[in-house]
Amino acid sequence: MKRTIIFTVFRIIEKLRVGEKAYLLKIQASQVKRSKPGQFVIVQRDELSERIPLSILESHEYGFSCLLKVVGRSTMELLEEGEELLYIAGPLGVPFPVGRYGRVLFYSHDWGIAPILNVARALKIEGNFLKLVHTSEELYLMDQVERVFHLWDVSSDPLPEECDLVVSAGSNHLSEKLTQLYPNKPILSMVNVHMLDAVGLCLVCRVRVDGEYRLACSEGPWFEAHKVDWRDLISRENIYKEQERQATEEYLKLLKRRELKG
Ligand code: FES
Repeated sequence: MKRTIIFTVFRIIEKLRVGEKAYLLKIQASQVKRSKPGQFVIVQRDELSERIPLSILESHEYGFSCLLKVVGRSTMELLEEGEELLYIAGPLGVPFPVGRYGRVLFYSHDWGIAPILNVARALKIEGNFLKLVHTSEELYLMDQVERVFHLWDVSSDPLPEECDLVVSAGSNHLSEKLTQLYPNKPILSMVNVHMLDAVGLCLVCRVRVDGEYRLACSEGPWFEAHKVDWRDLISRENIYKEQERQATEEYLKLLKRRELKG
């Protein structure tokens, strides 16, 4: 019997610079267009490149958009050479529990503004009052921030405020700090972890929640912050730092060689 194998290639339709080392990518991937708030995808540029998780900012009729923060070789490759992607898995993860909470206080750090905007858009439709506190210097996607939030502020040292629910994304340190600022409030935080296969086999994304290991790729990425062992998570944050530094250095040399040849 004759077999036909169809390879799908995912096109990056647009790359728009939105800040220092930050880009808005629009990607054609029909299976992601029905994603739910708070979900993410895993992308891989070619068979030799690393798989990286990216939070979905918004779904569109052709696929989705996301925020790419260039932090190392894989994200740099995506920016420099990623016109097409070999592999996209998603939408992945348990969607954010959208509902009517009342006054919701969002905390974002750096790229965390992307998943925060995705969730906030859905909570606004439910009639919640939304305030954003961004805790790093540069706030990307300002036009969307102004459209979605009733109030917003930038502060690296936030103080507790009256609210019914706290939501955070972009930094494990920030989420840990929020558990001290709000000891008696519900906090839903997106954990920041490395991911490899995103199907529950590699266990790289394990998070200690309420004394038990859970997988961020299939059971997360949102967890009740008071139950997360942030110290354990933070201690594993830099585990691949040296390999990442070497890979980035090699890639920068490669770019330099290409430039000289060109
Ligand atoms: S990324 Fe491998 S188990 Fe979650």
